[in-house]
Amino acid sequence: MKTKVLLCLLDKHKEINAQLKNAGIVESFLESRMILKHVLSISDIEFIKCDTVQVSNEQIHIINQMVARRSSLEPLAYILNSKSFWKNDFYVDNRVLIPRRDTEILIESFLDVYREPNISIKVADIGCGSGCIILSLLQEYSVMYGIAVDVSFQALEVSRINCKKLYLENRLLLLQSDVVSAFQANSLDAIVSNPPYIAQNDEQLESAVYNYEPHIALFAGDNGLHFYKAILISAQHLLKEGGTIFLEVGYNQIQLVKEISIKQGFSVKKIVKDIQNIERILVLEKKN
Ligand SMILES: C[S@@+](CC[C@H](N)C(=O)[O-])C[C@H]1O[C@@H](n2cnc3c(N)ncnc32)[C@H](O)[C@@H]1O
Repeated sequence: MKTKVLLCLLDKHKEINAQLKNAGIVESFLESRMILKHVLSISDIEFIKCDTVQVSNEQIHIINQMVARRSSLEPLAYILNSKSFWKNDFYVDNRVLIPRRDTEILIESFLDVYREPNISIKVADIGCGSGCIILSLLQEYSVMYGIAVDVSFQALEVSRINCKKLYLENRLLLLQSDVVSAFQANSLDAIVSNPPYIAQNDEQLESAVYNYEPHIALFAGDNGLHFYKAILISAQHLLKEGGTIFLEVGYNQIQLVKEISIKQGFSVKKIVKDIQNIERILVLEKKN
């Protein structure tokens, strides 16, 4: 039998908070609590109510390891293998980009365009990563069919984990492909994508992102515009007439992506801003 010791939650929380704060973690208080809750499998209420908990030496060791990793600025989502996005916690590890709040605006934009929850449509997510976009949409639309495309087999493995977790296997096809080369003409009602869009020389990129997240998910040639061009060229022939595209774009890219879209024969249906008031989601329609 494993030996258990009594741990004072408040003291351990204070200790970890101080360590993370020293390492420069802005949300140290919240994050130290998340680490404790995760390893000890306790709820928010238990965390507040309990003064002490029984823990094994192994649990203490795991907590200390996690704190050390976080102190080296590894993202918490990779340490906990979890990131909340839209209505679920998604499994994540360093094979995929960590889902971002901005990308939830793409979901909101989609819900705003397709207002009928029982609509029968076929939607492809180009560069699915963890699967957070397409799986969230499949949950919102009960008869939608999804195709999750990624060039990275490793990313598709993570999508598969999330797909199973959400019991959506019978409505999602996972496809390893370069952009959208693998579909039939006029077969899709909509395309959603948060493609890699960071220019190689972008100086605004945070070092933790550069150091830990997969570069295949971040960088794009042609000054960050490569995938927009590739997706829009393919979409011209893959989308049905009147079909819709939802693209997340970088903070300085809306104008350029808009121009590329118009040149490729799409009309701009809508532009949606993020919480920082940056134009972030471009909704396009394939003209008749
Ligand atoms: C910015 S991440 C987005 C991940 C996820 N959709 C999200 O929003 O969190 C871009 C994804 O595109 C994938 N990708 C990169 N190059 C690709 C290509 N040529 N064809 C398809 N997917 C690609 C990456 O592997 C990565 O998973």
